[in-house]
Amino acid sequence: MTGGAGYIGSHTVVELLARGHDVAIVDSLENAHPAVLPRIAELGGREPPFHRLDVRDETGLAEVFARGVSGGAFEAVVHFAGRKAVGESVADPLAYWDANVNGAIVLLRVMQKAAVQRIVFSSSATVYDCEAEPPLRENGPTGPINPYGETKYAIERMLTALPIADPAWRVSILRYFNPVGAHPSGRIGEDPADTPNNLMPFVTQVAVGRREKLRVFGNDYPTPDGTGVRDYIHVVDLALGHVAALEFLARKADGCHVHNLGTGRGTSVLEMIHAFEAASGRRIPHEIVERRPGDAAAVWADPAKAARELGWSARLDLAAMCRDAWRWQQANPGGYRTP
Ligand code: UFG
Repeated sequence: MTGGAGYIGSHTVVELLARGHDVAIVDSLENAHPAVLPRIAELGGREPPFHRLDVRDETGLAEVFARGVSGGAFEAVVHFAGRKAVGESVADPLAYWDANVNGAIVLLRVMQKAAVQRIVFSSSATVYDCEAEPPLRENGPTGPINPYGETKYAIERMLTALPIADPAWRVSILRYFNPVGAHPSGRIGEDPADTPNNLMPFVTQVAVGRREKLRVFGNDYPTPDGTGVRDYIHVVDLALGHVAALEFLARKADGCHVHNLGTGRGTSVLEMIHAFEAASGRRIPHEIVERRPGDAAAVWADPAKAARELGWSARLDLAAMCRDAWRWQQANPGGYRTP
């Protein structure tokens, strides 16, 4: 698991451990905190081997593959490692192409040499043409509009070519919608290093008193209440989507497969605020400000293909997402840095 100490990675490791899989984590800790590791062990029942490594370090990565896990070779890789902030990608595109695309190239080359040719890749709804009419389907129009999305799309194209060149490759591309929430234990969750860019961590930080108020980016979109609509998905559901994708690759012989991981339901910013207020009992002071450049009006998934082929559907509702995000934030007001 590359990026296994991060937000989605840590939740996925826990679910895999809980199902008896052996997992090794590779993470540079550039955007993750080492305090997550003992908590993964606590929740998963055992401590997975951890390698502090950037995936662009080809020699280091080859050593990890030579070592394998629990005395055996790896069967598959789940590739989360990468940079993920849209604004930062616009300011520093080279850093994004290097970390994300170069990182994927090095990883895939090492995998090929080690004859480990099953991969589940973290892609994003950002690869879609955001002007397209929702619900978004896997075969719908693509067209990322920032370097972050372009790197995700470039990696998708690269992965699509692999099984054509060598049928030993089995590839699962997962396009995430908006991951939110935390493990129900409150022990692991999202821990943004700086001011959060995303709605949910901002809301929880306002609720806990770390920030004064939320700015709602625009209320003049063509949506029922005028605010942006997104498909929020509980991070535990998302983690289970990876387990389903790994099991799918294990039984499905060949090729490259793309699946949306979303709920199929859209929620507006104001609906999210109200759901969070109901779950937490706290008021979320907010003001309407200008639209944020580059934001789409409404984005949600058609999750039917994942249900059909992976046998996976999101189960947890908005109330669970808010409750678990709040439990994590309350127990860890400063994230993993909380003493
Ligand atoms: N929003 C606010 N105030 C905030 C933050 C967000 O009103 O402080 C609004 C946004 O305008 C949008 C909604 O809340 O309508 C969700 O915004 P997020 O930033 O949480 O999520 P995005 O849908 O913009 O971005 C997500 C991922 C990106 C990915 C993108 C497109 O975070 O990585 O989806 O798929 F690129």
